[in-house]
Amino acid sequence: MSVLVAYASMYGSTAEIAQYMGGVLDEHGYQVSVQNVNNIQNIDQYDQVILGSAIHHGLWLREMTAFVQRYRDTLNHKSVYVWLTCIRVLEEDGYDHVLTHYFRPELMRNIPVKGVTAFAGRLDLKEIDWSQRWTLGLQYDGAKTPENLRGDYRDWKAIRAWVQQISTDFAV
Ligand SMILES: Cc1cc2nc3c(=O)[nH]c(=O)nc-3n(C[C@H](O)[C@H](O)[C@H](O)COP(=O)(O)O)c2cc1C
Repeated sequence: MSVLVAYASMYGSTAEIAQYMGGVLDEHGYQVSVQNVNNIQNIDQYDQVILGSAIHHGLWLREMTAFVQRYRDTLNHKSVYVWLTCIRVLEEDGYDHVLTHYFRPELMRNIPVKGVTAFAGRLDLKEIDWSQRWTLGLQYDGAKTPENLRGDYRDWKAIRAWVQQISTDFAV
């Protein structure tokens, strides 16, 4: 069974999560390809598709939206899983908030999405320029300020557990 892990990442933390997922799937004997959505030309050959986007300013990265629009007709015939990388998930009720406000059911309509989750990412304010830092502060929709959420919060055990859990569905 072949699995595509397709990601959209601006500062690399979602890309690293995707690579890690690829390693877990490889350990479990799946044929896996981990690719940036910008480099994907064809998805026909994959049985399962796992999509992951960073959230910036409350939105999926534009290239993930474009990818879903471009491959909608093919994705309609696949099993699709989605994760979002963000910091809002760290706050109280963050997980529910992210799934309610950051997931995009209208974009995914008619696509058989079998699982959606959110993982905490990494926020390093030194990586982003002043204008983005400014808009992040203004647009972030949590109770905390992003300055108070700096750090690398990626929970590799939780990521592994999700991949293992969804891979048990692959065979069904
Ligand atoms: C410019 C910018 C805007 C962000 N906006 C949000 C946001 O609106 N909500 C949120 O939960 N996290 C937000 N984050 C946190 C990112 O989702 C987090 O840093 C993630 O790990 C970034 O993924 P990447 O390294 O793959 O780009 C933002 C981060 C940056 C740098």
